[in-house]
Amino acid sequence: MIDKQQAAKNKVTIVNLLKQTEREGIEGLIHWLDTDGFFESPASTQFHGNYDGGLAYHSLNVYEEFNHLNERYNLGLEQDTITLVGLLHDACKVGLYEPNILKSGNRSESKPYKTNGEFPFGHGELSVYYVQQHIQLTPEEALLIRWHMEKYDATYDFVNGQGDRIRNAVPSLCALSCADKLASAYIDDINPSKVSQQQQQTQA
Ligand SMILES: [Fe+2]
Ligand SMILES: [Fe+2]
Repeated sequence: MIDKQQAAKNKVTIVNLLKQTEREGIEGLIHWLDTDGFFESPASTQFHGNYDGGLAYHSLNVYEEFNHLNERYNLGLEQDTITLVGLLHDACKVGLYEPNILKSGNRSESKPYKTNGEFPFGHGELSVYYVQQHIQLTPEEALLIRWHMEKYDATYDFVNGQGDRIRNAVPSLCALSCADKLASAYIDDINPSKVSQQQQQTQA
């Protein structure tokens, strides 16, 4: 589980960033995130960020990486777009996971969460759907969130040339997809609770 203080800090940072967009309806969106478990949710069942608070941590990491890549490659994205897309690309995971309790009654260590329920709307599609219930996304933001999995989305290239059309429509998609991968591979899995345990052992 993520350290409680860190989780609280992540929440404050995310809420402040969202409020700074001043997008109409943002307060309602923040309320939804808060009441439906965004800040407590893991980011996956058994992979990156698979601990309480992992989704918020991952989303913040993607936002930071995306922000960095926007500057590094002069992508010219609006700050609001980086904030909304980075923080909300995985909004589809709100309420998606529950603890994976084995028949023995113990929690699975290898896969601590399982998917809870089914709303077969897609991954990026569902994020856009949830977010649009509260705020209006620009076409660029909607496309970025919809296709953030790029070729890992089964429908990305199912029509010949679909990938090119999407990349041409939103050239910054590669940066978002890379930001997502970088956060998942190099940041999210540094489980803060493990790190703080190690620090305590080192300090003891
Ligand atoms: Fe995702
Ligand atoms: Fe993600």
